[in-house]
Amino acid sequence: MTLTAPATGAASAASRLATPWWREAVVYQVYIRSFADGDGDGTGDLAGLRARLPYLASLGVDALWINPWYPSPMADSGYDVADYRGIEPLFGDLDQASVMIAEAHELGLRIILDLVPNHLSDEHAWFQAALASAPGSPERARFIFRGGRGESGELPPNDWTSHFGGPAWTRVVEAVGDEEHPAGQPGQWYLHLFNSKQPDVNWTSDEVRAEFDEVLRFWFDRGVDGFRIDVAHGLIKHPDFPDLGERERPHIPFGSGDHPFLDRDEVHEVYRGWRAIADSYDPPRVFVAEAWTGDAVRLGMYLRPDELHTAFNFDFLVSAWREGELRSVIDATLAAHAAVGAPPTWVLSNHDVYREVSRYAREQDRPQVRDEADVKGRPADLELGLRRARAAALLMLALPGGAYVYQGAELGLPEVEDLPEESLQDPTWFQSGGQLRGRDGCRVPLPWSGSQPPFGFSERADGAAPTGEPWLPQPASFAGLTVADQDGDPTSTLELYRSALALRHSLEALGDGSMSWVQAADGSLDGVLAFTREPGFACWVNLSPQPVELPDGVEVLLSSGDLDETADGAVLLPSDTTVWLRR
Ligand code: GLC
Repeated sequence: MTLTAPATGAASAASRLATPWWREAVVYQVYIRSFADGDGDGTGDLAGLRARLPYLASLGVDALWINPWYPSPMADSGYDVADYRGIEPLFGDLDQASVMIAEAHELGLRIILDLVPNHLSDEHAWFQAALASAPGSPERARFIFRGGRGESGELPPNDWTSHFGGPAWTRVVEAVGDEEHPAGQPGQWYLHLFNSKQPDVNWTSDEVRAEFDEVLRFWFDRGVDGFRIDVAHGLIKHPDFPDLGERERPHIPFGSGDHPFLDRDEVHEVYRGWRAIADSYDPPRVFVAEAWTGDAVRLGMYLRPDELHTAFNFDFLVSAWREGELRSVIDATLAAHAAVGAPPTWVLSNHDVYREVSRYAREQDRPQVRDEADVKGRPADLELGLRRARAAALLMLALPGGAYVYQGAELGLPEVEDLPEESLQDPTWFQSGGQLRGRDGCRVPLPWSGSQPPFGFSERADGAAPTGEPWLPQPASFAGLTVADQDGDPTSTLELYRSALALRHSLEALGDGSMSWVQAADGSLDGVLAFTREPGFACWVNLSPQPVELPDGVEVLLSSGDLDETADGAVLLPSDTTVWLRR
C-alpha cells in the first residue's frame, strides 16, 4: 500500500489555530418552518429555535444557516420575500431575532441568514409600485418587464421556462398604461424564473444594487455572521434575452458562461462589491453561495479571493453512492478549490433535494441522483439507505474543509414520500400539473419526542396544548426516530453525529487542510475510498460489495456500523461502512 503525494496546503498546528472559522465550520441548516414550534400553531418559529439552541450546541455544530425568515406570503416557503428588513409574523419579530442571535453567540454558534437577491415577492412594495405604474417608469425598471411577441403582444417575450415548470413570463393588466399598452388591457410581461409570485429583479439597476447593499448592512449591523446567497448563479440575464431554443435541461448551466440567464460572467462583479462590505466589518462577515454550475471550475470562480468565501458542493450531494463517482467528485472539488485558495464544503442534503437516506435506498445504477425525478417508481430499501447515509456522513465530515448538515439528517430521517396530495404546498406540484410532488417530503416538521404527531414539534413554554396541526403532516413512521428516542443510544444516528462532531473538534487532522489517497497496487482496495490526513488520521469507506481488511496497528476511533473480525483477529470493514482510524 502506498501513499500518493500529499495535496497542497497541509495545515500545521500553528496555522490551524489561525484558521478562520468559516474554512472548516460544520453548519447546521435550520429550515425554520419545520424545526421547532414554540407557540403551538403548527409552524416552526423563533421561540422554538431559541428553546432548542442548547440541543444544537450539544450536537457540536459551529454555525446555523437559517432559511428565509422575512415577511412572506409563502408562495415558495419564504423564498418570496415581501420585506428584507423584517421577520415573518408566523416566526416572531425583530426583537426575538436579536435575542436569538445573542443567545446563539453565547453558545458559540454563529448565525448565517439567507439572502434572496434574484427575485422578491409580488407583494413586496416595489412590485406593487411597478404594477401601479406605467410601462417604462422607474418603478418598472427595478424588474424585467417586456412587451410580448405576436400580433398584439399575446405571446411571452421569449421561450424561457420557470424552474418550477411552465413559462417564465406572466402578463399584467395595465393599471396606468401607455400608447402601446392601454390601461385596463393585458399589457407587458414580467420575468419570473421561479413562481409567478416571485418576479425577478433587474440587476442592471443601480437602485437594486444599492438596496441589496443596504440589506446586507442592516443584518450585519445586527450581529449576523454571514449570508447564504440564494440562486447566486442567477441575477444577471443576457441583455438581448435570446430564446433558449432546443437546448436540453435548460436549468443546468452549460459551464461556459454563455447561458442566457444562469452562471453568467457578469455576476461576479456583484460579489466583489459584497465582499468589500463583508470585509468592512470586524470580525469580517462571510458568504456561502448556492450556485449550481456546470462544473467545479465554474464553481471555483465564485470563490476567488475577492468574491464569496465558500459554496455548496452540489456535485458531492448528487453523486451516486459509487466509489468512482465519489472519488472523481472529491478530486475535482479539491483541485478547483485549491486553484482559488478556497476551502471546499461538503453537503448531503438540503430543503430542495431528496433526503440522502431515500436517495441511497435506491439502486445506484446512474451517476447522479438528486430529486424525485431521479427516484420515481424505483423500489427503496430504507435500511440500506440509512446504512449508506451514516457512512456518507463520516466520509463528509472527514474531508478537508467545511460541511453542511440539513436538519433531520442527524436523525437519519428518510424522505416522506407519501404525503397526502391535499397537503402538498411546493409550487413544483402545482406548476408541473401534478406530475411532480416537489420538495415537501424533505420539509416535514422534525420529530422531537413522543410516539405520535406532533412528536414534540409543537411545544409551548407554558405547557399548554398545541392549537394547530404541523403545517405538513408527520408520518407515523417518525415514531422511534425522535431526538428523545435516539438521545443516549450509542447505536443511534444522533449519537454517531455527536461523536463525529466531537472528534472533528478534537483531532487536529480534521477540518481545513489536505488529504492523500491510500492506494494498493494489488487491487485490495478496489471499491474503497481510503485517505489519510495529518497528523495520524485515516478514513476508509467501503463501497464494494465485500468486506475489506483494515491495516494492522491502527486504532478505530469511530465507525458508521459494526465491524467484523476474522478468525485470526484481523478487523474487517463491511460493505457500505465508513471507519475513522488513528494511525
Ligand atoms: C433556491 C432555494 C429554493 C427556492 C429557490 C427560489 O434554490 O433553495 O428553495 O425555491 O431558490 O428562491
